[in-house]
Amino acid sequence: MAPQTHIPTALEAAGDAVVLGADEVAGRFPLHANPSPASQAEYDAVMADLSFGRSFTDHMAHMTWTADQGWHDREVIPFAPLSLSPAAAVLHYAQAVFEGIKAYRHEDGSVWTFRPGYNAARINHSADRLAMPEIDREDFIASVVDYVRADARWVPGEPGSSLYLRPFMFASEPFLGVHSASAIDYYVIGSPSGPYFTGGFEAVSIWVSKGYHRAGPGGTGSAKAGGNYAASLLPQVEAGERGFSQVCFLDTYEEKYLEELGGMNVFVVMADGTVRTPELTGVILEGGTRSAILRMLRDQGVEVREEQIALADLIAGVESAAVAEVFACGTAAVVTPIGRLAGEGFDVTIPTGPVTEKAYNDLTDIQMGRVEDPYGWTYRIC
Ligand code: COI
Repeated sequence: MAPQTHIPTALEAAGDAVVLGADEVAGRFPLHANPSPASQAEYDAVMADLSFGRSFTDHMAHMTWTADQGWHDREVIPFAPLSLSPAAAVLHYAQAVFEGIKAYRHEDGSVWTFRPGYNAARINHSADRLAMPEIDREDFIASVVDYVRADARWVPGEPGSSLYLRPFMFASEPFLGVHSASAIDYYVIGSPSGPYFTGGFEAVSIWVSKGYHRAGPGGTGSAKAGGNYAASLLPQVEAGERGFSQVCFLDTYEEKYLEELGGMNVFVVMADGTVRTPELTGVILEGGTRSAILRMLRDQGVEVREEQIALADLIAGVESAAVAEVFACGTAAVVTPIGRLAGEGFDVTIPTGPVTEKAYNDLTDIQMGRVEDPYGWTYRIC
């Protein structure tokens, strides 16, 4: 089949647009070096046991926005607890958005990130929805570059590992009235990380939630807003009590169609070779990994469909073997096979298959510099 045409979304166009190189943006966030960085023993202990998101590096990037000055005070400073008024609006009204992006160490020791223009566009999409100020794209990229250059020793090199970067911004104005804050703080922190799921590429089990929803039409579902993840926690706890590792959410009105997992998009591979994923309805997050996989599959001549996927059809498809594989994907999760899908009245087992494995390999080969990057997605930091 010929490669399919696809009109890029605004985020995809931003992710594929040419951005200034790292040397051109570097230095916007001057380094105030940590006088007490982790000792060699502390560093060795972290790097020898890479979990996800538990250990952090010596520094963080930061800048502040105020209504009268705009973004200012760009800096890379020692990683430390924040000093925040108990009245800071974020603590009360959850005006906060974040991103997930990674720094990868290639075999020659160089450090790269992946499609930073996509994340820059997405944090601004999220910021718009949460009535927060946008960040200049080059400032976003510079914050990542200056931070990672300061803490490059923390980028691990083992297969499946990376420095997971967490840019985030929140309303720091101390005010209990409900309004969009006039003071915002932005940070980038990083965590040397192994796989998000402790089993690595092993299949995970998913509980399909009924009665709970992560977001609804007109809400903040397409924004990477902390509140969306807060809404997923109770169903996640209940799924955990049943022995499942993640929750899949259905649409709000009919509880009929798949939306996404707590922090990942979902793909369905049919036995006839076509691949499906829930369409962007404004309720689900437009994942960068989702976008990259769709692009690679299309370019490989695989028929991909972004469409509504009814849970009943999925279950029937698994039972009749019309559905061959199901996987989750996200920056943190990369590509993770789903081996079991259950909910009220059903419990089906799904094999892990070659399409999932190939998507994982194709993506990570580009990210880790093991193959030529035909898309210009990889971005050298240092
Ligand atoms: C990411 O994949 O980067 C996310 O932000 C999802 C979160 C569950 C870790």
